[in-house]
Amino acid sequence: MKKLKINPDKKISHINREIYGHFSEHLGYCIYGGLYVGEDSDIPNINGVRKDVIDALKEIKIPVLRWPGGCFAEEYHWEDGIGKKSERPVRINTCWGGVEETNAFGTHEFFNLCEELGCEPYLAANMSGGTVWEMQSWIEYITYDGNSELARKRKQNGREKPWKLKYIGVGNENWGGGGNMRPEFYADEYRKYQTFCKDYSGNHLYKIACGAGDGNYDWTKKVIENIKWTNPYGISLHHYSLPTGNWDKKGSAVKFPDSEYYHTIQDAMYMDELIKKHGEIIRSLEKEDNPIALIVDEWGVWCDVEEGTNPGFLYQQNSMRDAVVAALTLNIFNKNSDIVKMANLAQTVNVLQSVILTDGKEILKTPTFYVFKMFAPHQDNDLVESELQNEKIADTQALTHSVSVNGEGELFVTFSNASLDKSFEIEFDIASEEKYSVSDCEILTAKKEDCNTFEDREKVISKAYDGYNDNNGQISVSLPPVSVVCLKLNK
Ligand code: AHR
Repeated sequence: MKKLKINPDKKISHINREIYGHFSEHLGYCIYGGLYVGEDSDIPNINGVRKDVIDALKEIKIPVLRWPGGCFAEEYHWEDGIGKKSERPVRINTCWGGVEETNAFGTHEFFNLCEELGCEPYLAANMSGGTVWEMQSWIEYITYDGNSELARKRKQNGREKPWKLKYIGVGNENWGGGGNMRPEFYADEYRKYQTFCKDYSGNHLYKIACGAGDGNYDWTKKVIENIKWTNPYGISLHHYSLPTGNWDKKGSAVKFPDSEYYHTIQDAMYMDELIKKHGEIIRSLEKEDNPIALIVDEWGVWCDVEEGTNPGFLYQQNSMRDAVVAALTLNIFNKNSDIVKMANLAQTVNVLQSVILTDGKEILKTPTFYVFKMFAPHQDNDLVESELQNEKIADTQALTHSVSVNGEGELFVTFSNASLDKSFEIEFDIASEEKYSVSDCEILTAKKEDCNTFEDREKVISKAYDGYNDNNGQISVSLPPVSVVCLKLNK
């Protein structure tokens, strides 16, 4: 029996709902075919976006969506994606597969989609392949409530009222695909570009600087040192978990030995160290009156593409292993929610660790989807103090957990158990005079390689779970191998 100590009265930090965010790029079948099929499609759609995908994203309460990239953002010119579709220029997507980009999905389609989903839009603005004026004029086009030429253009294109835009990222991976910059050079560019990210008509922008990939602490240090006086909202971090640890041969999404399974778990657990170390640098350098958030705007499992698919499309299946990675990562984000204020899983549909896969008219929800559904009650709760006895497996820890409280005083507890062969019994020790009892308990569990397929869409889905005891306030729960479990506790 392992003990979970909870102190419900000790609130640690607010869990921003944006931690449960997503990312969609013009890459493979993420936008075209995945999200967007066009108004004339016989697939039911709202303004060209698949209705089944919209419903699924609402089901997991998607709080924020990042767009248009990724690497693609650094070659995207927003004016290509407005106006009559037949007149929009066709470009080449040189980042992803060299395919033709029709620009049928552009600013209006994206912002209308976010409105339909009730989520915040998060723009990744082109910094290395665009100009300051492009960025500034895009913001004006979207947010200005007046009669400037750009606002009039927006109205002519069918949108009278401006949209709200909260989050804007200045560049993407500028240490690599986004211009191969040195941190000092990026910082100077950021200073220039952010000056022209203007607040129009009562809109207030939260500016996010491009941060490091993995453990590039020097980048974080030099960028923060040079930009902190501009009061950025946040700086990003990207970390992908690789089954083999080797970018040239990442490993399969569906067939993998135990060693690759555990390597993926270990690499995903590394997120905690990355957040703590980048976080320490940020906290030691930021101005007292402007704490800087860590925005993990790309994360997830990155495998080799499925056999026979375009290598530039990054299409991979999604197994119970991905679900465990999602759960442990979300627990890590919750536990570090004093500094992690947003995170975006890569990528929403048909690319990398998706929550949804599509095939023509068909759609399926991946095991990762069910983790986001199970964890959604954490959104906008407060993290409370808790401590769990753990156990080592394969050079990492078997368990992760987090506990939050909502406005009604209900506790919400989530666990992941990454062990392939061990169950754990967890006994709750709640520091409270009042008794809590279990009002809801769910589980997601399967064999490590199990997936949902178009032939069997419900092989891995979350279910009500009765593997707990609630004996007059004495609560315990059993976590089977390879499982994700959540519980709601009421007073
Ligand atoms: O998510 C796929 C790619 O990974 C993104 O375009 C880029 O930012 C990262 O390298």
